[in-house]
Amino acid sequence: MKSNRQPPQPATLAAQGLGWTDDATGAVVLPIQPATTFIRDPDNQYRRGRNYARADNPGYDQPQALLTALEGGAASLVLSSGMAAATTVFRALPAGAHVVAPLVMYHSLRRWIAAQAAEGHIAADFVDMSSLDALREAVVPGRTRLVWIETPANPLWSVTDIAGAAEIAHKAGALLAVDSTTASPVLTRPIEHGADIVMHSATKYLNGHSDVIAGTLTGARDDEFWQRLVAGRSSGGAILGNMETYLLMRGMRTLFLRVERACRSAQRVAEAMAGHSNVAEVLYPGLPSHPGHAVAARQMHGGFGGMLSIRVKGGEAAAIGAAARVEIWKRATSLGGVESLMEHRASIEGPGTPVPADLLRLSVGIEDPQDLIDDLDNALRG
Ligand SMILES: Cc1ncc(COP(=O)(O)O)c(C=O)c1O
Repeated sequence: MKSNRQPPQPATLAAQGLGWTDDATGAVVLPIQPATTFIRDPDNQYRRGRNYARADNPGYDQPQALLTALEGGAASLVLSSGMAAATTVFRALPAGAHVVAPLVMYHSLRRWIAAQAAEGHIAADFVDMSSLDALREAVVPGRTRLVWIETPANPLWSVTDIAGAAEIAHKAGALLAVDSTTASPVLTRPIEHGADIVMHSATKYLNGHSDVIAGTLTGARDDEFWQRLVAGRSSGGAILGNMETYLLMRGMRTLFLRVERACRSAQRVAEAMAGHSNVAEVLYPGLPSHPGHAVAARQMHGGFGGMLSIRVKGGEAAAIGAAARVEIWKRATSLGGVESLMEHRASIEGPGTPVPADLLRLSVGIEDPQDLIDDLDNALRG
């Protein structure tokens, strides 16, 4: 009889870690393999495919295969941090390559790109990536090698049309890389929209418990550029430790539950804040008032993410004052964990930041959403 069974859905693949079990014991969780080196066969070959754990590590196989399946890519890499993942991509470019990146994006990476450009390693232009016209004007056919986007982007949650950006990048002969940290593969699969590389700070939603720093890359194709990234990790040495790899894999099994809950709660928090008398503006792609709402509705599925920002009436002092009064939200940087975090973003980005001084960035966790709304309301009322 012909089976009418469909291939498992992404949530099933994640919950079961692709269904992998340990051949030796039947364990439903794979063991941590701490070895740094592997036996060479008597005939001088490495037939089992591994020789040294900086190049490759058995613990990476499951999270990489799972991420590849969730992103719909050809191959993935886990690395020691999101920054390691991102900088591995830039370092794989030819010397002097021209890149185009967003004006407003994860600040440490923006500064790193600007510093690389100042030292002459690359040439960089920063543009408003919510405008495809701005991107079109910035790319230089034959010279631009990489277009880097982040969507939704820190901390205004600006949205970039991935398919539009991919078309512009490819026409110019460039690759499109997407920092998809805040969307996660639950909400957006950039490769389906034409991206060549997807990057995550796995520190955030993929791990989800604020206890691992990690990064990932996924390639649409296992081609020459991808092999440069593979070599970049092993020779650059930006590898993830065994325990961190194990924790990341454990976190990824609950990815869908966490992200779905965070999205639902973030939408409620955003709607409650939109009507609040002490809030000047709510930035959340799930609100029809957000400039990126229409594009987000097209390329995000199942929610608009767990991240939003509010601009507090009364300016910087009022924003910092409100943050001082929260009891349930934790005043901390980072995002994507099970606990809700609040931060006065301009303070962490420092002088020269494009972030408004009255902005509080909110990472919505998985707590009861009404508790979060009540706590915010109290804090804003003072
Ligand atoms: C969107 C985004 N990209 C990249 C990074 C860098 O990741 P990591 O801190 O894991 O190096 C972060 C960290 O906050 C981030 O929020």
